[in-house]
Amino acid sequence: MRLIMLGAPGAGKGTQAKRAAAHLGVPHISTGDIFRANIKEGTELGRKAKEYMDAGALVPDELVCDLVADRISKEDCAKGFILDGFPRTIPQAEALDRALENLGTSIDYAVDIDVPDEAIISRMGGRRACVGCGATYHIKFNPPKQEGVCDTCGKDLILRDDDKPETVKTRLGVYHEQTQPLIDFYSAKGVLVTVDGTQGMDDVFAEIVSKIGA
Ligand code: AP5
Ligand code: MG
Repeated sequence: MRLIMLGAPGAGKGTQAKRAAAHLGVPHISTGDIFRANIKEGTELGRKAKEYMDAGALVPDELVCDLVADRISKEDCAKGFILDGFPRTIPQAEALDRALENLGTSIDYAVDIDVPDEAIISRMGGRRACVGCGATYHIKFNPPKQEGVCDTCGKDLILRDDDKPETVKTRLGVYHEQTQPLIDFYSAKGVLVTVDGTQGMDDVFAEIVSKIGA
């Protein structure tokens, strides 16, 4: 199955995409995670992306479209994939359509995880990310067994640089302006599924699974 996770920053795309990928046995592809890995490794792509990410802006389309087109053409994506954080603009969605057409396939569902801005702002301050494996926690809604330590790999948990309150507000503005139009784009194609992202994580997952018939 080929899925896209749509939703505001902090809506729970990563949380649900990881679970859905395990459930469906397909790769989870997060462009944000790819950029963060490149920043950590000090690559040229990471250096370019960091400047935009720290400001809460989108990385330019030309730095992301080819990267995703290349990733979804890999062998492990033959049976499907879950895209998390891509596409984020109409030009990215059109580039994805072209890449899928070249592969002779198309998207099955675009899942929009709907969460109002007020809930997002209170969620983001509590998120913690592992510096080692990238696992995500929340100090209240999904705490690690030991404070500040990753359950999976034992490394430190940190607040992401772009989760500071001012940057979160900028990211929400960018989302409404540039990414929200994708809801109409995928609705017009008849593949949009909307789930209530204000529920607990298990209920959000159950709603996704039931609506995509997985
Ligand atoms: P990216 O990493 O994609 O960040 P984002 O879209 O801003 O989304 P987040 O990862 O912050 O949130 P999420 O929806 O994954 O939520 P999560 O599951 O963690 O992108 C970062 C930056 O990279 C962008 O700003 C941009 O600069 C750049 N970028 C990336 N892709 C790009 C592209 N295609 N084009 C251009 N630039 C790009 O959950 C959030 C928190 O809430 C967690 O703590 C979690 O535990 C908790 N939580 C989750 N679900 C629930 C629930 N149901 N109830 C309570 N708490 C919950
Ligand atoms: Mg994420």
